[in-house]
Amino acid sequence: MAFNDLFLRACRLEPVEMTPVWMMRQAGRFLATYRALRKKADFLTMCKTPELAAQATLLPIDELGVDAAILFSDILIPVEAMGMALDFTPAPVFAEPIRSEKQIQALRIPDPEESVPFVLEAIRILRRELTDRVPLIGFSGAPFTLATYMVEGSGSKNFIEVKRLMYQEPDLFAALMEKITETDTRYLNAQIAAGAQAVQIFDTWGGILTPEDYETYALPYTKEVIDGLNRDGVPVIHYVGTGSALLPLIKTAGSDVVGIDWRIRIDEARRILGPDTAVQGNFDPTALFAPVPEIQRRVKEILHRAGDAPGHIFNLGHGILPPTPEDHAKALIDAVHTYSRK
Ligand code: CP3
Repeated sequence: MAFNDLFLRACRLEPVEMTPVWMMRQAGRFLATYRALRKKADFLTMCKTPELAAQATLLPIDELGVDAAILFSDILIPVEAMGMALDFTPAPVFAEPIRSEKQIQALRIPDPEESVPFVLEAIRILRRELTDRVPLIGFSGAPFTLATYMVEGSGSKNFIEVKRLMYQEPDLFAALMEKITETDTRYLNAQIAAGAQAVQIFDTWGGILTPEDYETYALPYTKEVIDGLNRDGVPVIHYVGTGSALLPLIKTAGSDVVGIDWRIRIDEARRILGPDTAVQGNFDPTALFAPVPEIQRRVKEILHRAGDAPGHIFNLGHGILPPTPEDHAKALIDAVHTYSRK
């Protein structure tokens, strides 16, 4: 088999013979084979066992025919390495959330080779296994999204704790963000050195901020991470959940590709981002519960709106949901390839 570089070419705004597609959270519970693998080990054990992480990464490549692999891991793995005890239930929980200066001072800025060697080993295994197949994407959480989990201790509805810290103790918040930013930069550079061929920064919760707060409290740190990457030939994808209203600001962070959700039409997003930024998205993950012809209609609509200019990577606007029918996910991938082929 010849190496499929459609994804990398689209990231670099080069012409492609069909639109590449992958799905955020494609290595996950909607796949029966993933659920079977998960019976053997809990989620954190899977993340920390390179052979298992590699196996999970490959499932959607074998079963769905996606054009890129994303490392099986979690955005909170480097946060555990900073010194915070982490549990998944399956949602992430930090038993001792960050609420004081003392706790922020105690956080480490870990060396990835020492603290998360399993991530780097999984990447090395995967590069061997994917030689004649598809590119491998590494990833991290954006500093702001990691801070929300560290300060809230878990997911949240209104994010009052992290906002309390932000608004009441801006210097402490900045000290926390600086440590996360440094950790994140080292972590992504270690993934690139180990062989990640692109990296995605997930700012799942960036969209809970007003544009002004996003510009003050989140954007500068993500920009610092991006500026600190050894990105020679390695595209950087920047995804901000519920971020459509922030696109003009997101563009200034300087990624090669911007990930968009489904709350904006993709032609509008491309107009805001301009011709030098590729765009990834923007299928509504809940539309995968619609009948297959409706899924196909929506795929056509996004492809049509994305236009002929290079630089579209088809994806969902957020992670695929665990109850998604597998055959609907497969129908989406096939529809993208069929309708976009030149
Ligand atoms: O995309 C992939 O398939 C690669 C693997 C991956 C996981 N998490 C595996 C996972 C990636 C890229 C992530 C990123 C991640 N993790 C994000 C950003 C993306 C997003 O969805 O917004 C966030 C916010 C997290 C934190 C996290 N991890 C949550 C909120 C949860 C629980 C909710 C859920 O969807 O399960 C997890 C657990 C998790 N991460 C699972 C997987 C496969 C399920 C764990 C299990 O198997 O029990």
